[in-house]
Amino acid sequence: MSTMAEREAAEPGFYITTPIYYVNDKPHIGHAYTTVASDAFARFNRLDGKRVRFLTGTDEHGQKVQQSAEKAGVAPQQFTDRVSANFRSLATLLLATHDDFIRTTEPRHKATVHALWAEMVRNGHIYKGAYEGWYSVRDEAFYAEGELVDGKAPTGAEVAWVSEPSYFFRLSAFTQPLLELYGQRPDFIMPAARRNEMLRFVEGGLQDLSISRTAFSWGIPVPDDEEHVIYVWLDALTNYLTACGYDVADLDALRSGAARGGPTAVWPPTVHIVGKDILRFHTVFWPAFLLACGLEVPRRVFAHGWWTIQGAKMSKSVGNVVDPFELVDAYGVDAVRYFLLTGVPFGADGDYSRDALVNLVNANLANQMGNLLHRTMMLVHSKCDGCVPLAGALTDTERGLLDKTYGLLAVCRAHMDAQAVHRMADELASTVRLCNEYIDAQAPWSLGKTDPARMRTVLWTLLEALRCIGILMQPLTPQASIRMLDQLGIRPSPSGSHAGSAAAPVDDARSFAAVSPGHAVVAGTRLPAPAPVFPRIELEEAPPSAQPAAAPAVPTQPSAHAAADDQCLDAIDDVEGAVREQGERVRALKAAKADKAQIDSEVAKLLKLKGRLAAAPAN
Ligand code: MSP
Repeated sequence: MSTMAEREAAEPGFYITTPIYYVNDKPHIGHAYTTVASDAFARFNRLDGKRVRFLTGTDEHGQKVQQSAEKAGVAPQQFTDRVSANFRSLATLLLATHDDFIRTTEPRHKATVHALWAEMVRNGHIYKGAYEGWYSVRDEAFYAEGELVDGKAPTGAEVAWVSEPSYFFRLSAFTQPLLELYGQRPDFIMPAARRNEMLRFVEGGLQDLSISRTAFSWGIPVPDDEEHVIYVWLDALTNYLTACGYDVADLDALRSGAARGGPTAVWPPTVHIVGKDILRFHTVFWPAFLLACGLEVPRRVFAHGWWTIQGAKMSKSVGNVVDPFELVDAYGVDAVRYFLLTGVPFGADGDYSRDALVNLVNANLANQMGNLLHRTMMLVHSKCDGCVPLAGALTDTERGLLDKTYGLLAVCRAHMDAQAVHRMADELASTVRLCNEYIDAQAPWSLGKTDPARMRTVLWTLLEALRCIGILMQPLTPQASIRMLDQLGIRPSPSGSHAGSAAAPVDDARSFAAVSPGHAVVAGTRLPAPAPVFPRIELEEAPPSAQPAAAPAVPTQPSAHAAADDQCLDAIDDVEGAVREQGERVRALKAAKADKAQIDSEVAKLLKLKGRLAAAPAN
């Protein structure tokens, strides 16, 4: 077994960040999305034995925040203290396992921003001039005349003409270095379509960037020129460096790589997770700032898509903003996480609707995963005295199922390395479906009488598959996974904390290293009484938050399943036989005391078949 120190030396750190959130308003599901996705990647890599550092926080300076504070009638610091606390609570509510929550109003951050500024000045990349052009306070961005669409920013935000003295960063000098970077590192910007957008933008040639403002005061002052505050994006992007504990004295160490062995040995970031709206700041400005200081650029910037409501942007004036606090309150944190992570492919846009959330969670978690676990546990309790049974010889069927299950780790790792969290979830869901097919085909409830040894083998196989699935589900549904692994008698080692920066110890029974035959469930282990782990969501009348009543569901697996079920029922020729079979299935589920929801759904199918039988013309 390797020591922590040996593993730290062997493993590169995994440094992942969310954008830091503007504190001009309350958090909504768009913010929750970035945090949950980043947390899933952080958890996955931690469980996979990497030294993870996960950073989130709040972006508290700039004109937008100053204006919001004025509107609220409070001093900016008091205002940011209040709103930042909401974002911190949201991260906690969503079970984010960040190691640090940075606020740009903290003294440590000012020190790093000043260090970076001084370095740019020293390297001749900053000069003083005057800015004349368009500025959008909502986007905190400068726009060229040619970029405006109908007199507005391309994002639809209002712009105002600004004319003021300004410091400039020689961004134009980085056109070529950035194109080289994109050329040499094709996966620096992901997904590929976004990379192409940025490539086209930079190929168009870059203008020098105004990096200070004088029209307001809520920001970090320019060193030795307090009339100016530093442009909020230069301030904000630097948070990723601040949180590593680097300041002016450390820049040299950081550049030479000498700081790598230290406790904050995480530079460069492995991946910045950002929304597609802020890609230009992260893939053009940010690498240019770093190159100007001779610092390594992040390994990757991944842009996720946007959630809309009935195709429209969320906005307070429309009244369609979905509050993540209300959502978690209504459906639970695992359901919200699962929906956000798997409801749409990560990188694509998605339309949020309550029905889509409920359908997906009920289909994949309650009906498939929950029922599989519950049925297996009920049988283990009713037929094996509540202990893991002893398996006999495995047939090819068991071996096939288990090989697929043990192989999941490598498959999921490949998906997660490409930030394809939805694919990972699909892999798990399809393995659960295979397990459900297996239990239906083997019918261990009947084997109890005819072939108890075989029944024990089947139940052992199911417990073993569920163990691996439960371990791998942790990044997606952490709370339910804990309950699931508890049910299966999988104890974490006492030191096996999955939160914080430490990697999961490799001997931890809940870490990914345990997804292997060597850690299989042990016959004779007493299991706790079965309890529901993935509850079904029953729709209430009043939807939470400002959810429009008739929001269309995004195309999701469950609706596809429901349609597939209907098609299967319609395609049956031998209706009488099908009624008999379905009746047996319902009886078996009742005997196994399966989840009420699943029994109800199978009864509904039975009734539908009986209806068809009754309607069939008599021969
Ligand atoms: N403060 C800047 C980021 C600075 S990072 C150095 C910022 N903040 S934000 O609060 O406006 O947005 C933070 C994140 O939330 C972004 O990744 C953004 O894409 C995401 N979302 C905000 N609304 C969203 C949706 N409707 N859908 C998905 N994500 C969206 O930008």
